[in-house]
Amino acid sequence: MKLTVVGGGSTYTPELIDGFARLRDTLPIEELVLVDPATDRLDLVGGLARRIFTRQQHPGRITTTTDLDAGVDGADAVLLQLRVGGQAAREQDETWPLECGCVGQETTGAGGLAKALRTVPVVLDIADRVRRANPHAWIIDFTNPVGIVTRALLQAGHKAVGLCNVAIGFQRKFAGLLGVAPADVHLDHVGLNHLTWETGVRLGGPEGEDVLPKLLSDHGEQIATDLHLPRTLLNRLNAIPSYYLRYYYAHDEVVRELRTKPSRAAEVAAMERELLQMYGDPALDEKPALLAKRGGAYYSEAAVDLAAALLGGSGSPYQVVNTLNRGTLPFLPDDAVIEVQSAVGRTGATPLPAAQPDPLFAGLIANVTAYEHLALEAALHGGRDRVFRALLAHPLIGQYDHADALTDRLIAHNREHLTWA
Ligand code: G6P
Ligand code: MN
Repeated sequence: MKLTVVGGGSTYTPELIDGFARLRDTLPIEELVLVDPATDRLDLVGGLARRIFTRQQHPGRITTTTDLDAGVDGADAVLLQLRVGGQAAREQDETWPLECGCVGQETTGAGGLAKALRTVPVVLDIADRVRRANPHAWIIDFTNPVGIVTRALLQAGHKAVGLCNVAIGFQRKFAGLLGVAPADVHLDHVGLNHLTWETGVRLGGPEGEDVLPKLLSDHGEQIATDLHLPRTLLNRLNAIPSYYLRYYYAHDEVVRELRTKPSRAAEVAAMERELLQMYGDPALDEKPALLAKRGGAYYSEAAVDLAAALLGGSGSPYQVVNTLNRGTLPFLPDDAVIEVQSAVGRTGATPLPAAQPDPLFAGLIANVTAYEHLALEAALHGGRDRVFRALLAHPLIGQYDHADALTDRLIAHNREHLTWA
């Protein structure tokens, strides 16, 4: 089996490699290719990746290349984890929306739209080249904003599934709190990427007993503290929202906080400098503890599980992924991309039938789906008016004067990445 990671020079990559090494029985990789335009990073990350495989006696071969076409040639699956413009562009996304009183975040709100506009054309070009090299290859997209990027890929007819670690993070956490194995926790997970609620926590599988009420009564305080939301809110929602919902439920509070502290991009950039220095140490042959301060916990395990199922191996039969709605949430268009429990196998991901969400969630899901539709239109066709329409549709923006001011800022800060601007 050959796997290719586009954006393989990311400082996240050792997390992925560590999972590939530990879980080699689930996903027997013979050849792993790291593709990245940055040769300095590629050398450092590639060197550590090989040492991790060697230490764990993984028989697979790891190669690195800056040549995308060569790297994806013959790949069974291609993982996309790139960041157009790097942390510098992210820093902008997190900063200028605050000038208009709006949340500055890499995937939510105006910053997320900027990221989508920079990213969608690049990912579509890569996907075309993957398809040319091997029409049977699966594309696993971690590249944010995952909902919009996956919708772009599926709309263009690619064999793609979008993946995020929010669900697996909750699964692992709840398993720990309940004292059961992670595989025994099945989440009723509903919504869009970075806009999801756990409306049930079942033991054993989709038909298992729902222990959400017990989880909330025994551990609600801890769960709420981790989410920086009041426990009473979780009780009133009768669900556990992802931490991205805090940008909605506590928007003004978050804006005040973000205005007084360094951006996450600046924190991550500092960590990346430190990590790259560590990766250059020939004695290092495992993922460093510092990597745990990044947001990517369990990414590798989710990726192994998904790739194994798509390539016909032994992955879990049900997984939370981003895929086409196809009537699952009847209040959304069939071609919307939703993040839900799905049956995953060689033919791809098919959402499991889902209970209809409370209108409290459905309203927001529908609103953000419309935004994502307009965001993709703007990413594909460009133009100031399309950017404005997407921003006006976003539930965290909505007012024309904010949408206008944000449109100007988005274009001014991203000119070098937007062919039409
Ligand atoms: C979580 C999200 C990812 C996001 C990451 C950011 O893992 O699910 O989509 O990319 O956090 O982490 P960072 O360390 O870059 O802030
Ligand atoms: Mn994510």
